[in-house]
Amino acid sequence: MEIIRSITELKQVISTIKNDQQTIGFVPTMGFLHEGHLALVEAARAETDQVILSIFVNPLQFGENEDFDQYPRNEANDLQLARKHGVDYVFIPEVNEMYPESIGVSMTVTQRIGVLCDRSRPGHFSGVLTVLTKLFHLVQSDFAYFGNKDAQQIAIVDLLITDLNFPIKLRMIPTVREDDGLAKSSRNVNLSDSERKEAPALYQALVHGKQVMIDGERSADKIEEEISRFLNERTSGKVDYVELLSFPNLEPIRATDHQVIIALAVQFKKARLIDNIIFNI
Ligand code: PAJ
Repeated sequence: MEIIRSITELKQVISTIKNDQQTIGFVPTMGFLHEGHLALVEAARAETDQVILSIFVNPLQFGENEDFDQYPRNEANDLQLARKHGVDYVFIPEVNEMYPESIGVSMTVTQRIGVLCDRSRPGHFSGVLTVLTKLFHLVQSDFAYFGNKDAQQIAIVDLLITDLNFPIKLRMIPTVREDDGLAKSSRNVNLSDSERKEAPALYQALVHGKQVMIDGERSADKIEEEISRFLNERTSGKVDYVELLSFPNLEPIRATDHQVIIALAVQFKKARLIDNIIFNI
């Protein structure tokens, strides 16, 4: 496995891979790798010649009062895990390599926003798409792997690839969970012991909400209220949002919709956790 820290070096590597006519699978991450990230790596390993993993905690996608400084980092462990899971190249740039000066151009998202995380984290998806646009241009992969855990992110990356004609196939990978149902997340280490015990309630609330809908309830308001009540009874965290929408358009559901998402976010003391469930009705 080769470790790449500069854009110049990355360009050379990509040029060699392209000359050899090999396919590239790209897995963008912010590091502190866990089995969720590794499921993306495994999917890339299974269908492409060269697997490139990026590790970059992107300051552009964090709001001023968010956890950029507290975001967990462990480069040595990440590199060991990447090597063990068959990654060929790790691109791990410093902030000033990606943004040598303040950036003068950024991406604006106009669809699939105004709901879910965009409402609580204004500007977040603009930051995500700006870094991904740079990374997609540099890595020139055939496939890019994203987790359903960040469902709004995947829906917006889908727009980025389609609307800007990136020649990349988007692969959506199911959420990897702990045995008790908690979605794996780098931020889980920032939960206190008691919060960690409560956290499986997020997924239980989603499963409960899905059941309420399958049993015939069609009012989004009622289902959202029921899930919020379920969460408030079981966690000390503050419910940020609970929303039932169509997927991937993220619009209010109509009788003609087939695929829906229930998504939620809960703010604990030092970690804001998100989760979702996507299903057919
Ligand atoms: P990060 O939170 O590190 O996640 C990297 C990728 O791993 C994302 O596609 C995310 O959906 C996926 N992932 C995280 N937890 C997962 C889980 N439990 N199961 C399956 N997949 C999971 O998302 C980002 O980084 C950044 O916004 C990024 C896209 C790298 C842009 O900076």
